[in-house]
Formats: sequence, C-alpha cells, structure tokens
Amino acid sequence: MTNCIKIEDSYQGYSLDSFCIPKHYEDDLESVLIPYGVIHDRIERIAKDIFTDFGKEPLVAICVLKGGYKFYTDLIDKINSLNRNQGERSVPLSVDFIRLRSYQNDKSVGTIEVIGGDNMESVKGKNVLVVEDIIDTGRTMMKLLGLLEEFQPKCVKVASLLLKRQPASNGYIPEYCGFEIPDKFVVGYALDFNERFRDLHHICVVNNNGINKYKV
Ligand code: HPA
Ligand code: MG
Repeated sequence: MTNCIKIEDSYQGYSLDSFCIPKHYEDDLESVLIPYGVIHDRIERIAKDIFTDFGKEPLVAICVLKGGYKFYTDLIDKINSLNRNQGERSVPLSVDFIRLRSYQNDKSVGTIEVIGGDNMESVKGKNVLVVEDIIDTGRTMMKLLGLLEEFQPKCVKVASLLLKRQPASNGYIPEYCGFEIPDKFVVGYALDFNERFRDLHHICVVNNNGINKYKV
C-alpha cells in the first residue's frame, strides 16, 4: 500500500454548512470527512497506479456490492479513460460483481454471507482486482480472498477506497487504498448505515441521532 492518505484522529472534518447536504440527512451527520471532489481526485491517482502496475495483461475487476458500487464505477471510468488516451499501453478490463453481507447497525455480525454474484470460474488464470468501499476489521476481505483462491486466479489485488484504523483489525492491508480514516462510522458515496445514506454525495461521519433513527 503506497501513498494512502492518512486522516488523523484529531481531524474534525468540514462543517455541514460548508457543503450541500440533502434535507433528509441534515440532522443525522456530524461532519463531512471527505468531500466528493477529493474522493474523485484521489480515485484518479489510484486508477493511474493500477494502470501502471497491471501493464497489458487482461484484468478482471470485481465490485463488492453494494457499498463498492460508486468507487467501482468511478475507478473503472478512470482506467478506461487511461486506456483510451495512453497510446501504447492499455489494460483489457472485464467487469464482475459479488454481493456480501456482514453488517447490521454499525456492528459486524461476525458471519459473512455471499448473497449474490456471478460464477467465479471466470477468474481462473486471470489477474483479479477486488474493489471494496471500506476495510474495517479485515475479516470480510480475508474471507473473500480465501473464497477467490479456490478459483485459481493468477494474482489477486485489492483496492479499497477507505481503510479504518480499527483496534479489532486482523492486520489486513489492501494493495491500493484511498484514505486511512479514524475509527468512526462513515456513510455516503454508497457507504450505508442499514441501507440509508448511500444517496449522500460526500463521505460523512454519522452522529448519534442518525444511528438511533436508523438502527434496526
Ligand atoms: N461505514 C459503512 N460501512 C462500514 C463501515 C463504516 O464505517 N465500516 C464497515 N462497514
Ligand atoms: Mg464493503
């Protein structure tokens, strides 16, 4: 993992008043941790790193749904843009999706279910990039990587937009990482709390009001 941006525990983020926040979430958030524009600029660089590292070999990019869908589409768009514009080099891409579930409220439920996705036979002998929104304890990713190995890919790398500094982490670190963040529950840019907040533009810290309102 190179050049991941570290957001310190002491960082308070931006005031909600400085950005546009949907009315329906106004009372449920503490701060804007990462504005949309910064997310995009960071993804541009991750795309460039991936483009450089994978050379000309075909790449199977697997989106971990649902939380990874925005990062995935923005990342793939930017890799495709490099493919169109870099002349000599290009990475043939194929897309794939997998759906997992490991969270209820703001806690990992401990078990990880695969609840949908393509047949993974397509990864055999291929370079694989797993695209995830956030790595928290690392358990979901370790489980998914174990599962993928059964299908004998040539190599597997992971791009996670966020990596949480989580005391209970198993130490797993992705090859590509956007931002290392404090141990707070974040939402927006497709990250959810019980399926809410995926429609929020920026990555924000949810407050107690939001937690209480949407807990199940
Ligand atoms: N937000 C959303 N989903 C998550 C988080 C988080 O902070 N941690 C693990 N899954
Ligand atoms: Mg996820």
